[in-house]
Amino acid sequence: MRNYTSVHDLGDLKAAVKEALEVKKTPYDFQELGKNKTMILLFFNSSLRTRLSTQKAAQNLGMNVIVLDVNAGAWKLEGERGVIMDGDKPEHLLEAIPVIGSYCDIIGVRAFAKFEDKKEDYEEVVINQFIKYSGVPVVSMEAATAHPLQGFADIITIEEHKKVERPKVVLTWAPHPRALPQAVPNSFAQFAQAADYDFVITHPEGYELAPEFAGDAKVEYDQKKAFEGADFIYAKNWASYNDYGQILSKDRAWTVDEEKMALTNNACFMHCLPVRRNMIVSDDVIEAETSLVVPQAANRVTSAQLVIKRILENL
Ligand code: CP
Repeated sequence: MRNYTSVHDLGDLKAAVKEALEVKKTPYDFQELGKNKTMILLFFNSSLRTRLSTQKAAQNLGMNVIVLDVNAGAWKLEGERGVIMDGDKPEHLLEAIPVIGSYCDIIGVRAFAKFEDKKEDYEEVVINQFIKYSGVPVVSMEAATAHPLQGFADIITIEEHKKVERPKVVLTWAPHPRALPQAVPNSFAQFAQAADYDFVITHPEGYELAPEFAGDAKVEYDQKKAFEGADFIYAKNWASYNDYGQILSKDRAWTVDEEKMALTNNACFMHCLPVRRNMIVSDDVIEAETSLVVPQAANRVTSAQLVIKRILENL
């Protein structure tokens, strides 16, 4: 593997999950791979899990890790070519990227959708600039349209907890006070279909995901109907794709609560975190024994470690 930006970079997903679970059992067995190698983790946006789990994963592999919050201490970066730089951004990404690449062997980048230009977001302009100009492999730590480290951790978690070979997995929209990117639901939809689950997406009308991510997933606009017989409920908010970046609903009738979970096959509850309690999910559901949010977050180390290991093996 050279770069990691999508489920497609993993190849055979079953084999990747198997290898990840082996790495999880003996996380320190591959330290020679990362010896004298450096990974820079670059954050244009906030993070708790991605920052800590990716750092831990790289350190488990023997790497040195440097974390840079671009908005806290670095020069403000211009991204547009052709701009007369007489404003508040003294450095251009086109210099910054190869400079950062010269200090490391792998770069992790977090750069969310800006919701200013749908085309720019869905063409993944920022992460593609890193791939083009850094000279080193690039790992998406959540880009504008995808969060593949999260999607992989989600599938590892389902594989660890599923009780039937082909579980019913439901991705449900839930309300949130702010406009959130589609990266997590996009990646989850891709991974769930690559894993060949019985996969259903439920959301209010107007929240359809981009066709390239929704694929052939069944869409059910009646949330309660979607929950019937589910083995896993994955809750997430996202802003509209069609009415790009807009909040069309904050209807708390879509909050995941005990009454809706009672319709399921004693489903496990999942969310990528951070989560707004009693907007996305009730206290009772997230605190129940069937809630997987903590093991799911813990698997972020495993997913990142498998990805970084495969990149190191290919250096
Ligand atoms: N799930 C996730 O990516 O968490 P952070 O935003 O805290 O990194």
